[in-house]
Amino acid sequence: MLGKQPADPAKRSSLHGHWSSRMAFILAVTGSAVGLGNIWRFPYVVGENGGGAFVLVYLACVLVIGMPVMMSEILIGRRGRRNPIATMALLGAEEGNSSRWSIVGAIGVIAGILILSYYAVIGGWTLAYILKSGSGAFADAGADIVTGIRDDFLGSWTTVGLYHTIFMGLTIFVVARGVERGLEQAVRFMVPALLLLMIVLLGYSITTGYFGQGVSFLFTPDWSKLTWDTVLTAMGQAFFTLSIGMGAVMAYGAYLPEETSIPGAAAAVALSDTSIALLAGLVIFPIVFANGMDPAAGPGLVFITLPLAFGQMPGGVFFATIFFVLLTFAAWTSAISLMEPAVAWIMERLGRSRAQAAVMIGLLIWAVGFGTVLSFNVLADVTFWRGTIFDNLDHLTLNIMLPLGGLLIVGFAGWVMCRNSTADELGGAGNVYRLWRFLARVVAPIGILFVFLKAVGLLPDLS
Ligand code: PHE
Repeated sequence: MLGKQPADPAKRSSLHGHWSSRMAFILAVTGSAVGLGNIWRFPYVVGENGGGAFVLVYLACVLVIGMPVMMSEILIGRRGRRNPIATMALLGAEEGNSSRWSIVGAIGVIAGILILSYYAVIGGWTLAYILKSGSGAFADAGADIVTGIRDDFLGSWTTVGLYHTIFMGLTIFVVARGVERGLEQAVRFMVPALLLLMIVLLGYSITTGYFGQGVSFLFTPDWSKLTWDTVLTAMGQAFFTLSIGMGAVMAYGAYLPEETSIPGAAAAVALSDTSIALLAGLVIFPIVFANGMDPAAGPGLVFITLPLAFGQMPGGVFFATIFFVLLTFAAWTSAISLMEPAVAWIMERLGRSRAQAAVMIGLLIWAVGFGTVLSFNVLADVTFWRGTIFDNLDHLTLNIMLPLGGLLIVGFAGWVMCRNSTADELGGAGNVYRLWRFLARVVAPIGILFVFLKAVGLLPDLS
């Protein structure tokens, strides 16, 4: 198959079609980036890790590690124009190194499968909350009622499993329909609508009287709360929220038209993604403090705080329903991208149709997802290493596989690819290019390695 493609990378075209415009690409990557990571995971890991110091480390990771990794992923994807495994093999050979770089794509395919296995369970949870909100279950409800609803839901593995199944079905459906028709349509309205609704919620948060406390929790650093393990978690969150380190952005980059500016696209995505996460934090923590809740309540945090807020708001049933619809949409567009590397690989490798590949990979992910479904009920007491099956999957993928994938991607773009190739993709050797190259060659790789080694205790403390 590789032989059929022209040797000049500029003439190579994707095997799966192209985005219709620059905006379609930005929307698709934003749709991938904005999801449960911003609204569900960001607030609860911030809460578990003590607030401000964690947030600042996370922001630093987005800037100096996340941005160069994302640009590297897009440029590699566009240059190779295949699934991440084949692209890494092709570019590895083309740049005079080794086609074994395909391993980076393989790590990403596996990470995507594992992440989606639990992402779909949480996606199912948001789906269930559309119905609960719509039925008025949260109207005027106090903290104990809202907590009770959450406990009842999570306690029933059949219910959690059912919604997980529906969510996976929806994801397989869109992926099976293909790049142009499926993905583009799904992302066009969701992000602005979500932003708008978050601003409505922000209005409510300000009226709780605890807004100041929320802001200071989010932004006043208490460095004593920070350990190397929390720094690793902050870095993992940065990778996860930007959808980088596993080839999703690389797979989308493969469909990017030649003339689109990569730094501009990456900056637009990172900006909207980070704003939505910070906005989620600003909405949620005042509600936590106003109701005397524990910021470290874990994965259930948004499913308690937001229903509580909606329950006390005028028009709450309406807003809550719309909110969970949008959140499900956001999760859906991210889930699609989590499957894309594996699906593109099966299509090209096994010569299957998109629909067949989506069903094959989707069923596998669905089955693995039951490990997480059961982590909240039947197997809640089965803990090892980092905790439940869910906790372990979360740690393994976000804090280990994504940063490792990111390290290899940025290292490849910075050190293995020649200057001409990368400058060609990044629009010439100007200041932006020089900054990218410095971050990609020095700051990001050293930063990732340093945090890794510190977190596992392999580097001694200097003081
Ligand atoms: N970025 C998505 C979110 O924040 C999750 C995701 C991770 C999607 C990795 C694709 C790849 O919800």
